[in-house]
Amino acid sequence: MNRPPPGQLAESLIAWQGQHGRHTLPWQQTRDPYRVWLSEIMLQQTQVATVLVYYQRFLAQLPDVAALAAASQDEVYALWAGLGYYSRARNLHRCAQAVMRDFGGAFPSTAPQLATLPGIGRTTAAAIAAFCFGQREAILDGNVKRVLTRALGFGEDLAQARSERALWALAEAELPRGPGIEAYTQGLMDLGATVCTARKPACMVCPWSAICVARAQGQPEAYPVKTRKLKRSQRASALLCLTRGDAVWLLQRPATGIWAGLWSLPEFESVPALQAWLADGPGPGQPLPVISHVLTHLDWALSPVHCPLPADSPHADALALRWPEGRWVLREELPAYGQPTPVRKLLSDIV
Ligand code: ADE
Repeated sequence: MNRPPPGQLAESLIAWQGQHGRHTLPWQQTRDPYRVWLSEIMLQQTQVATVLVYYQRFLAQLPDVAALAAASQDEVYALWAGLGYYSRARNLHRCAQAVMRDFGGAFPSTAPQLATLPGIGRTTAAAIAAFCFGQREAILDGNVKRVLTRALGFGEDLAQARSERALWALAEAELPRGPGIEAYTQGLMDLGATVCTARKPACMVCPWSAICVARAQGQPEAYPVKTRKLKRSQRASALLCLTRGDAVWLLQRPATGIWAGLWSLPEFESVPALQAWLADGPGPGQPLPVISHVLTHLDWALSPVHCPLPADSPHADALALRWPEGRWVLREELPAYGQPTPVRKLLSDIV
Protein backbone atom coordinates (compact mmCIF):
# COMPACT_ATOMS: atom_id res chain seq x y z
CA MET A 1 0.00 0.00 0.00
CA ASN A 2 1.16 3.52 -0.78
CA ARG A 3 1.75 6.17 1.80
CA PRO A 4 -1.21 8.49 2.38
CA PRO A 5 -0.90 11.80 0.51
CA PRO A 6 0.57 14.57 2.70
CA GLY A 7 -2.13 16.34 4.69
CA GLN A 8 -4.34 13.31 5.30
CA LEU A 9 -2.67 12.23 8.49
CA ALA A 10 -2.88 15.72 9.98
CA GLU A 11 -6.48 16.28 9.01
CA SER A 12 -7.79 13.04 10.51
CA LEU A 13 -5.57 13.31 13.59
CA ILE A 14 -6.72 16.85 14.45
CA ALA A 15 -10.37 15.76 14.18
CA TRP A 16 -9.71 12.69 16.33
CA GLN A 17 -7.80 14.66 18.96
CA GLY A 18 -10.73 17.05 19.33
CA GLN A 19 -13.12 14.18 20.00
CA HIS A 20 -11.06 11.45 21.62
CA GLY A 21 -7.76 12.96 22.73
CA ARG A 22 -6.78 14.21 26.17
CA HIS A 23 -7.87 17.75 27.08
CA THR A 24 -7.93 17.91 30.84
CA LEU A 25 -4.30 17.36 31.80
CA PRO A 26 -3.20 20.32 33.96
CA TRP A 27 -0.47 21.44 31.55
CA GLN A 28 -3.07 21.62 28.76
CA GLN A 29 -5.03 24.34 30.56
CA THR A 30 -2.32 26.93 29.98
CA ARG A 31 0.00 28.47 27.42
CA ASP A 32 2.46 29.52 30.13
CA PRO A 33 5.83 28.27 28.83
CA TYR A 34 7.10 27.63 32.36
CA ARG A 35 4.28 25.18 33.04
CA VAL A 36 4.42 23.55 29.63
CA TRP A 37 8.20 23.21 29.76
CA LEU A 38 8.08 21.71 33.26
CA SER A 39 5.48 19.15 32.17
CA GLU A 40 7.41 18.21 29.03
CA ILE A 41 10.61 17.62 30.99
CA MET A 42 8.79 15.52 33.61
CA LEU A 43 6.99 13.54 30.89
CA GLN A 44 10.19 12.70 28.99
CA GLN A 45 10.77 9.42 30.81
CA THR A 46 7.84 9.24 33.17
CA GLN A 47 4.19 8.29 32.80
CA VAL A 48 1.39 10.83 33.05
CA ALA A 49 -0.11 9.31 36.22
CA THR A 50 3.18 9.72 38.11
CA VAL A 51 3.89 13.17 36.72
CA LEU A 52 0.50 14.56 37.84
CA VAL A 53 1.44 14.42 41.52
CA TYR A 54 4.99 15.76 41.09
CA TYR A 55 3.88 18.51 38.75
CA GLN A 56 1.33 20.01 41.15
CA ARG A 57 3.69 19.83 44.11
CA PHE A 58 6.52 21.41 42.14
CA LEU A 59 4.36 24.32 40.99
CA ALA A 60 2.93 24.88 44.46
CA GLN A 61 6.47 25.35 45.78
CA LEU A 62 8.11 26.99 42.75
CA PRO A 63 5.33 28.73 40.80
CA ASP A 64 7.42 30.49 38.16
CA VAL A 65 10.78 30.49 36.44
CA ALA A 66 12.16 33.20 38.77
CA ALA A 67 11.33 31.11 41.84
CA LEU A 68 12.96 28.02 40.32
CA ALA A 69 16.09 29.93 39.31
CA ALA A 70 16.43 31.30 42.86
CA ALA A 71 15.79 27.95 44.59
CA SER A 72 18.64 25.94 46.07
CA GLN A 73 19.82 22.83 44.24
CA ASP A 74 18.78 20.74 47.24
CA GLU A 75 15.24 22.06 47.06
CA VAL A 76 14.99 21.19 43.36
CA TYR A 77 16.39 17.67 43.92
CA ALA A 78 14.01 17.12 46.83
CA LEU A 79 11.06 18.02 44.57
CA TRP A 80 12.39 15.72 41.86
CA ALA A 81 13.31 12.74 44.05
CA GLY A 82 11.49 9.63 42.85
CA LEU A 83 11.01 10.79 39.25
CA GLY A 84 14.36 9.33 38.17
CA TYR A 85 16.78 10.50 35.45
CA TYR A 86 18.17 13.17 37.76
CA SER A 87 20.18 14.98 35.12
CA ARG A 88 16.74 16.35 34.20
CA ALA A 89 16.55 18.10 37.59
CA ARG A 90 20.02 19.62 37.22
CA ASN A 91 19.25 20.86 33.71
CA LEU A 92 15.87 22.17 34.85
CA HIS A 93 17.58 24.36 37.40
CA ARG A 94 20.28 25.49 34.95
CA CYS A 95 17.66 26.20 32.29
CA ALA A 96 15.63 28.43 34.64
CA GLN A 97 18.81 30.34 35.49
CA ALA A 98 19.63 30.74 31.78
CA VAL A 99 16.11 32.04 31.06
CA MET A 100 16.54 34.66 33.80
CA ARG A 101 20.09 35.58 32.76
CA ASP A 102 19.90 35.42 28.96
CA PHE A 103 16.22 36.07 28.17
CA GLY A 104 15.13 38.52 30.88
CA GLY A 105 12.94 35.91 32.59
CA ALA A 106 10.74 35.12 29.55
CA PHE A 107 11.14 31.85 27.64
CA PRO A 108 12.01 32.47 23.97
CA SER A 109 9.19 31.71 21.54
CA THR A 110 10.94 29.87 18.72
CA ALA A 111 12.06 26.25 18.67
CA PRO A 112 15.67 27.00 17.60
CA GLN A 113 16.11 29.44 20.51
CA LEU A 114 14.43 27.09 22.98
CA ALA A 115 16.75 24.29 21.87
CA THR A 116 19.79 26.32 23.00
CA LEU A 117 18.67 25.99 26.63
CA PRO A 118 19.99 23.23 28.95
CA GLY A 119 17.93 20.03 28.84
CA ILE A 120 15.72 21.16 25.93
CA GLY A 121 16.20 18.90 22.92
CA ARG A 122 14.65 19.26 19.50
CA THR A 123 11.34 17.58 20.38
CA THR A 124 10.84 19.41 23.67
CA ALA A 125 11.66 22.73 21.98
CA ALA A 126 9.13 21.98 19.25
CA ALA A 127 6.43 20.95 21.75
CA ILE A 128 6.83 24.17 23.77
CA ALA A 129 6.89 26.28 20.60
CA ALA A 130 3.73 24.57 19.32
CA PHE A 131 1.74 24.50 22.57
CA CYS A 132 2.62 27.99 23.82
CA PHE A 133 3.29 29.98 20.68
CA GLY A 134 1.39 28.11 17.92
CA GLN A 135 4.60 27.51 15.98
CA ARG A 136 4.54 24.90 13.21
CA GLU A 137 7.27 22.54 14.42
CA ALA A 138 7.69 18.76 14.25
CA ILE A 139 8.21 16.49 17.27
CA LEU A 140 9.83 13.06 17.12
CA ASP A 141 10.21 11.31 20.46
CA GLY A 142 10.09 7.53 20.92
CA ASN A 143 6.29 7.34 20.80
CA VAL A 144 6.02 9.56 17.76
CA LYS A 145 8.68 7.54 15.94
CA ARG A 146 6.53 4.45 16.47
CA VAL A 147 3.33 6.14 15.33
CA LEU A 148 4.83 7.71 12.21
CA THR A 149 6.93 4.75 11.08
CA ARG A 150 3.82 2.59 11.24
CA ALA A 151 1.50 5.03 9.50
CA LEU A 152 4.04 5.66 6.73
CA GLY A 153 5.46 2.13 6.55
CA PHE A 154 8.92 3.62 7.15
CA GLY A 155 11.11 0.51 7.39
CA GLU A 156 14.61 1.99 7.46
CA ASP A 157 16.80 1.19 10.45
CA LEU A 158 16.53 4.01 13.00
CA ALA A 159 19.87 2.98 14.49
CA GLN A 160 21.32 4.80 11.45
CA ALA A 161 21.54 8.58 11.75
CA ARG A 162 20.65 8.86 8.06
CA SER A 163 17.31 7.10 8.61
CA GLU A 164 16.53 9.22 11.61
CA ARG A 165 17.14 12.36 9.55
CA ALA A 166 14.84 11.03 6.84
CA LEU A 167 12.11 10.43 9.40
CA TRP A 168 12.47 13.98 10.75
CA ALA A 169 11.95 15.26 7.20
CA LEU A 170 8.79 13.15 6.88
CA ALA A 171 7.55 14.39 10.27
CA GLU A 172 7.94 17.95 8.98
CA ALA A 173 6.21 17.14 5.71
CA GLU A 174 3.19 15.80 7.61
CA LEU A 175 2.65 18.95 9.70
CA PRO A 176 -0.76 20.56 9.21
CA ARG A 177 -0.73 23.35 6.65
CA GLY A 178 -3.56 25.30 8.25
CA PRO A 179 -4.39 25.89 11.92
CA GLY A 180 -4.30 23.16 14.53
CA ILE A 181 -0.63 22.58 15.31
CA GLU A 182 -1.52 22.32 19.02
CA ALA A 183 -4.14 19.60 18.46
CA TYR A 184 -1.91 17.82 15.95
CA THR A 185 1.09 17.75 18.31
CA GLN A 186 -1.03 16.64 21.25
CA GLY A 187 -2.78 14.11 18.99
CA LEU A 188 0.54 12.45 18.07
CA MET A 189 1.32 12.11 21.79
CA ASP A 190 -2.17 10.83 22.62
CA LEU A 191 -2.14 8.32 19.79
CA GLY A 192 1.25 6.96 20.89
CA ALA A 193 0.23 6.74 24.55
CA THR A 194 -3.28 5.33 24.20
CA VAL A 195 -3.82 3.68 20.77
CA CYS A 196 -0.63 2.99 18.81
CA THR A 197 1.10 1.28 21.71
CA ALA A 198 4.33 -0.71 21.40
CA ARG A 199 2.52 -4.01 21.88
CA LYS A 200 -1.01 -4.85 20.77
CA PRO A 201 -1.90 -1.51 19.20
CA ALA A 202 -5.64 -0.75 19.16
CA CYS A 203 -5.93 -0.33 15.39
CA MET A 204 -9.73 -0.71 15.55
CA VAL A 205 -10.09 2.69 17.19
CA CYS A 206 -7.26 4.46 15.37
CA PRO A 207 -8.13 7.47 13.21
CA TRP A 208 -5.53 6.27 10.72
CA SER A 209 -6.69 2.65 10.44
CA ALA A 210 -7.77 3.05 6.81
CA ILE A 211 -4.58 4.81 5.68
CA CYS A 212 -1.87 3.20 7.86
CA VAL A 213 0.69 1.29 5.79
CA ALA A 214 1.78 -1.00 8.65
CA ARG A 215 -1.82 -2.00 9.31
CA ALA A 216 -2.40 -2.77 5.63
CA GLN A 217 0.68 -4.98 5.74
CA GLY A 218 -0.87 -6.79 8.71
CA GLN A 219 1.99 -6.26 11.13
CA PRO A 220 2.07 -2.88 12.84
CA GLU A 221 4.38 -4.24 15.53
CA ALA A 222 7.14 -4.73 12.95
CA TYR A 223 7.75 -0.97 13.20
CA PRO A 224 9.85 0.90 14.13
CA VAL A 225 12.89 -0.96 12.85
CA LYS A 226 15.93 -0.49 15.07
CA THR A 227 18.75 -3.03 14.97
CA ARG A 228 21.02 -1.82 17.73
CA LYS A 229 19.66 -3.18 20.98
CA LEU A 230 20.28 -1.58 24.32
CA LYS A 231 23.05 -3.44 26.09
CA ARG A 232 22.15 -4.09 29.71
CA SER A 233 24.75 -4.63 32.35
CA GLN A 234 24.60 -6.09 35.85
CA ARG A 235 26.09 -4.62 38.96
CA ALA A 236 26.09 -5.55 42.65
CA SER A 237 26.82 -3.12 45.47
CA ALA A 238 26.51 -3.02 49.22
CA LEU A 239 24.91 -0.05 50.98
CA LEU A 240 25.87 0.91 54.50
CA CYS A 241 22.98 2.12 56.60
CA LEU A 242 24.53 3.71 59.69
CA THR A 243 22.01 5.00 62.17
CA ARG A 244 22.30 6.76 65.51
CA GLY A 245 19.00 7.28 67.32
CA ASP A 246 16.67 8.61 64.65
CA ALA A 247 19.46 9.96 62.44
CA VAL A 248 21.04 8.27 59.44
CA TRP A 249 24.40 8.93 57.76
CA LEU A 250 23.78 10.17 54.17
CA LEU A 251 26.11 11.19 51.35
CA GLN A 252 25.29 13.42 48.44
CA ARG A 253 25.99 11.62 45.16
CA PRO A 254 28.19 13.28 42.52
CA ALA A 255 26.53 15.74 40.10
CA THR A 256 26.70 13.27 37.22
CA GLY A 257 25.92 9.57 36.83
CA ILE A 258 23.31 7.42 38.51
CA TRP A 259 21.21 9.23 41.12
CA ALA A 260 23.17 12.42 40.44
CA GLY A 261 22.84 14.95 43.24
CA LEU A 262 20.58 12.79 45.41
CA TRP A 263 21.35 11.80 48.99
CA SER A 264 22.14 8.12 49.39
CA LEU A 265 23.97 5.67 51.63
CA PRO A 266 27.72 4.95 51.52
CA GLU A 267 28.33 2.36 48.82
CA PHE A 268 30.83 -0.53 48.81
CA GLU A 269 31.65 -2.93 46.00
CA SER A 270 30.52 -5.95 48.02
CA VAL A 271 29.11 -7.00 51.37
CA PRO A 272 32.46 -8.49 52.50
CA ALA A 273 34.20 -5.18 51.68
CA LEU A 274 31.56 -3.35 53.69
CA GLN A 275 31.77 -5.77 56.63
CA ALA A 276 35.58 -5.50 56.57
CA TRP A 277 35.27 -1.74 56.94
CA LEU A 278 32.80 -2.17 59.82
CA ALA A 279 35.06 -4.73 61.51
CA ASP A 280 37.74 -2.04 61.81
CA GLY A 281 35.28 0.27 63.55
CA PRO A 282 31.83 -0.12 65.01
CA GLY A 283 31.57 -3.90 64.58
CA PRO A 284 29.39 -6.16 62.39
CA GLY A 285 26.17 -4.96 60.82
CA GLN A 286 22.90 -6.67 60.13
CA PRO A 287 22.42 -7.71 56.46
CA LEU A 288 18.99 -6.77 55.09
CA PRO A 289 17.17 -8.30 52.08
CA VAL A 290 18.72 -7.55 48.68
CA ILE A 291 16.93 -4.87 46.62
CA SER A 292 16.78 -5.37 42.83
CA HIS A 293 16.83 -1.98 41.19
CA VAL A 294 16.20 -1.78 37.44
CA LEU A 295 17.59 1.20 35.52
CA THR A 296 17.54 1.78 31.76
CA HIS A 297 20.95 0.23 31.12
CA LEU A 298 21.58 -1.56 34.35
CA ASP A 299 20.21 -4.21 36.68
CA TRP A 300 21.57 -3.23 40.08
CA ALA A 301 21.48 -5.58 43.08
CA LEU A 302 21.76 -3.52 46.27
CA SER A 303 22.62 -5.32 49.49
CA PRO A 304 21.92 -3.08 52.48
CA VAL A 305 23.65 -3.65 55.81
CA HIS A 306 22.27 -1.91 58.90
CA CYS A 307 24.64 -0.83 61.65
CA PRO A 308 23.04 1.08 64.54
CA LEU A 309 25.54 3.13 66.58
CA PRO A 310 24.97 3.98 70.21
CA ALA A 311 24.54 7.69 71.01
CA ASP A 312 28.01 7.89 72.55
CA SER A 313 29.75 5.87 69.80
CA PRO A 314 33.40 6.92 69.44
CA HIS A 315 33.13 6.03 65.74
CA ALA A 316 30.59 8.68 64.82
CA ASP A 317 33.23 11.39 64.37
CA ALA A 318 35.45 9.18 62.23
CA LEU A 319 32.72 9.08 59.60
CA ALA A 320 33.33 12.66 58.54
CA LEU A 321 36.96 11.76 57.86
CA ARG A 322 36.03 8.82 55.67
CA TRP A 323 33.17 10.67 53.92
CA PRO A 324 33.68 14.46 54.17
CA GLU A 325 30.61 14.98 51.95
CA GLY A 326 28.38 13.09 54.41
CA ARG A 327 26.17 14.21 57.26
CA TRP A 328 23.77 12.95 59.91
CA VAL A 329 20.20 13.55 58.81
CA LEU A 330 17.32 13.29 61.27
CA ARG A 331 14.19 11.37 60.37
CA GLU A 332 12.10 14.54 60.23
CA GLU A 333 14.68 16.20 57.96
CA LEU A 334 14.63 13.39 55.38
CA PRO A 335 11.92 14.96 53.15
CA ALA A 336 14.22 17.95 52.51
CA TYR A 337 16.97 15.60 51.25
CA GLY A 338 16.08 14.09 47.87
CA GLN A 339 16.74 10.33 48.00
CA PRO A 340 16.55 7.65 45.30
CA THR A 341 13.31 5.69 45.61
CA PRO A 342 14.82 2.39 46.86
CA VAL A 343 16.84 4.27 49.49
CA ARG A 344 13.81 6.23 50.65
CA LYS A 345 11.82 2.98 51.00
CA LEU A 346 14.63 1.32 52.89
CA LEU A 347 14.99 4.26 55.27
CA SER A 348 11.27 4.38 55.96
CA ASP A 349 11.60 0.85 57.36
CA ILE A 350 14.67 1.62 59.47
CA VAL A 351 14.73 5.14 60.90
N1 ADE B 1 4.18 13.23 26.87
C1 ADE B 1 5.01 14.21 26.48
N2 ADE B 1 4.34 15.37 26.37
C2 ADE B 1 3.06 15.13 26.72
C3 ADE B 1 1.90 15.92 26.82
N3 ADE B 1 1.93 17.23 26.53
N4 ADE B 1 0.76 15.33 27.21
C4 ADE B 1 0.75 14.02 27.50
N5 ADE B 1 1.80 13.22 27.41
C5 ADE B 1 2.95 13.77 27.03
